[in-house]
Amino acid sequence: MDIAKIRSQIPATQRTIYLNTGFDGPAPISVVEAIQQRVAYENYDGPTTPHVLESGRKLSVQAKEAAARMVNVTPDEILMTQNTTEGLNIVLNGMDWRPGDELITLSIEYPSVMVLALHIQKRYGVRVRIAEVSPTESNAGLLAKVAEAVTPRTRAIFMSHIHYLNGLRVPGAELAALAHRHGARLLLDGAQGLAHVDLDLRAMGVDFYSMPGQKWLCGPDGIGALYIKKDLIPSIQPTYASSRAAKSWLPTGEWEPETEAITKFQLTTTSAPLRAGYVEAIRFVQEEVGGTKVIEERDTMLATAMKDALRGIAGVQVLSPERPPEATGIVTFGIAGKKPKDIVDALWAQKRIITRTIEPLNGVRLSCHFFNTEDEVATTAETIRGLAK
Ligand SMILES: Cc1ncc(COP(=O)(O)O)c(C=O)c1O
Repeated sequence: MDIAKIRSQIPATQRTIYLNTGFDGPAPISVVEAIQQRVAYENYDGPTTPHVLESGRKLSVQAKEAAARMVNVTPDEILMTQNTTEGLNIVLNGMDWRPGDELITLSIEYPSVMVLALHIQKRYGVRVRIAEVSPTESNAGLLAKVAEAVTPRTRAIFMSHIHYLNGLRVPGAELAALAHRHGARLLLDGAQGLAHVDLDLRAMGVDFYSMPGQKWLCGPDGIGALYIKKDLIPSIQPTYASSRAAKSWLPTGEWEPETEAITKFQLTTTSAPLRAGYVEAIRFVQEEVGGTKVIEERDTMLATAMKDALRGIAGVQVLSPERPPEATGIVTFGIAGKKPKDIVDALWAQKRIITRTIEPLNGVRLSCHFFNTEDEVATTAETIRGLAK
């Protein structure tokens, strides 16, 4: 990987030490330009001019193809969404819940995962079972605790693939196998997964996986993708319907619902400029950076170096898992006697280091991504050493 060349294409890396990709990743120049050029093209040529409409349709196909290729599924299993949370809602609100059905999630969940589970409980009379796990739970411990929560009424297991608190990765393939042994489905929130770790959703066997564009992919805000395993598409009902939810319909009210095609969840107007940026972001990470295997290795290497450096500092506590498979590119730490918000503010003020607080762990999160360097890791660790004095 030519790190200097990659960094020269991501302006934020020249202005900051950007360690907040888990919140929102900085886009390369080519992504920004793809969006700008598409906005200009549509508006200057006329949004409904035949060649503009045709190229917009092509972009829709390209976006699905690119997303599908990246995670080893087929384009007819991909729905373009606005963000991760929309995809999770499409799946959970679209299941044919019966009162008394059960949904398992984890005690350490991202707020919108937990609130969505509770919303499903309230709305459909589903019981949410919460498996109590530690933020540094081993994969084996986590599997055992989820298995304990399974009952004959379990219909779905729903959790983050990589946890926002500290980067803990859960064992997707083993959870899918556990769910399937009990006739249940596995839905993973992939907000922190896509373009951070190498994903083969087919091999993992997960049933549903929802992904953003704006985080580790370094694409635009407002676009994401939802994977639904092909044979499960008929089992999910659209919560919102447009004409795409019908195979055919008549003004008299006769109609035939669409069942098999994932397009049944699609509404009406969406943004082609965002699709242009999304397609370019995938091309960038695959071709310029070298793909998600390379990224996973580099992110883990940088995070390991960060943890090693932080562990040597008196008063600093590392709150992330130590090594793969649980560990990823995310490092959360705390400083005894210091408020997370004050640490985040000081890192920014002293060295333009961008991070975020993780209040539930009383910590600060550092997201290490491919464009970060060993020098940035060293500078960050030294600045933290200064704060811990
Ligand atoms: C685990 C997790 N899920 C969901 C989200 C929200 O993502 P989106 O804005 O794509 O819905 C985040 C954002 O930080 C997250 O960390």
